Amino acid sequence: LFRFRTTRPASLRFRSGEFVMIGLMGDPDPATGKQKPLLRAYSIASPSWDEELEFYSIKVPDGPLTSRLQHIQPGDQIILRPKPVGTLVHDALLPGKRLWLFATGTGIAPFASLLRDPQTFEDYDEVILTHTCREVGELAYGARLIETIRTDEMLAELMGAGFHDTLRYYPTTTREDSAKMGRITDLMRAGEVFSDLGVPQLSPETDRAMICGNLAFNLELKDMLEGYGLQEGANSDPRHYVVEKAFLD
Ligand code: A2P
Repeated sequence: LFRFRTTRPASLRFRSGEFVMIGLMGDPDPATGKQKPLLRAYSIASPSWDEELEFYSIKVPDGPLTSRLQHIQPGDQIILRPKPVGTLVHDALLPGKRLWLFATGTGIAPFASLLRDPQTFEDYDEVILTHTCREVGELAYGARLIETIRTDEMLAELMGAGFHDTLRYYPTTTREDSAKMGRITDLMRAGEVFSDLGVPQLSPETDRAMICGNLAFNLELKDMLEGYGLQEGANSDPRHYVVEKAFLD
């Protein structure tokens, strides 16, 4: 895993939670000598007010892009296609009381953006981030993010008084011992998540949710949310939950 920050083009506007295409120039084609850009979709992990852009990525074994991207140095340039899009945005949800952000692995990236956006805390009484990873080390990015959000005075000023109390963090691991073991889906079915957090099961009256993780996780959780009575929303048709695949998984 690695993260990096870049300068932000002054013209780039986006909504917290959206993604863009970024990348590097590929190696020259041996026949023509021409170079093509190697581009992948990446969630912007920084909030929309930030002067810089932050990205969070896995290192795909032998991956053409990440095997080079992980080595970029200050001063290097990356390619950025300035067309942010995505469904993990506040506009795609109806007003509610409690917002659930469900992530696995690098699927936490869009939530790192939303959790540093004051609107997230203006819109909801309670915000719950769940993050399921195989190993404890993979939780470090999220744990550091939450720590920063809870302790950074500048951010506290920006986010408004009292927002600390509304932020809940529920990390779990599946293949290495930690304080809470298990897939979030299993822990929800067993009711453990709700008793641990002291909140009722999700309901369309009060709860809104965003899902971002690997494909199997997205599909399983989507099914569960539908079972609670929540309906999938979109930018043009806001409802109770939205879902997006974590890229490069
Ligand atoms: P598990 O270790 O039991 O497969 P990955 O690294 O494969 O993208 O997985 C990230 C995390 O998501 C892992 O902890 C993994 O658990 C979990 N996961 C994978 N599939 C599902 C699913 N269908 N529902 C819930 N969690 C899942």
